[in-house]
Amino acid sequence: MTPSAPQSRLGKGLAEPSTDLSRLSRVLEQFKEEKGSLIPILQRTQDLYGYLPREAIHLISRQTRIPLSRIHGVATFYAQFHLTRRGRNLVRVCDGTACHVRGAGRNLEALQEILGIAPGETTPDYRLSLEVVYCLGSCGISPVALINNKVCARLSAEALVERVKVLE
Ligand code: FES
Repeated sequence: MTPSAPQSRLGKGLAEPSTDLSRLSRVLEQFKEEKGSLIPILQRTQDLYGYLPREAIHLISRQTRIPLSRIHGVATFYAQFHLTRRGRNLVRVCDGTACHVRGAGRNLEALQEILGIAPGETTPDYRLSLEVVYCLGSCGISPVALINNKVCARLSAEALVERVKVLE
């Protein structure tokens, strides 16, 4: 039997759609005359697709004549860039010291249990990506999670799971 990716309990896996590069072509046209614009191009590309698809990186390389190796170097150096497709929703659970002593570990375990993924992973249906962060600067209202950039404070495991369950 072939091993398969973990299945989310909240949805079935879907095939990744092919990348529509026409929008990226328009972006590259805007940057055509600008030297040293690789980072803004990558940022705009990620804004378009949510990550940096392989086909997009190849197109950028062809149009800008920047070697693929350099683009990969930049894309992997900066934490803001993602080379794999991410979920429609992003849940960041803080497991810094203050949050940890107030139950962040239990919150994280509850999420992993219901989603079937580990931190750094995305559900097979691309509904959600899960990340762990270490201190969001909101220790006074810990334990904290960011759900699509919205701060959720003083979360119990049950409350966190309920908020995540309704994400589409
Ligand atoms: S440790 Fe979580 S907000 Fe500071």
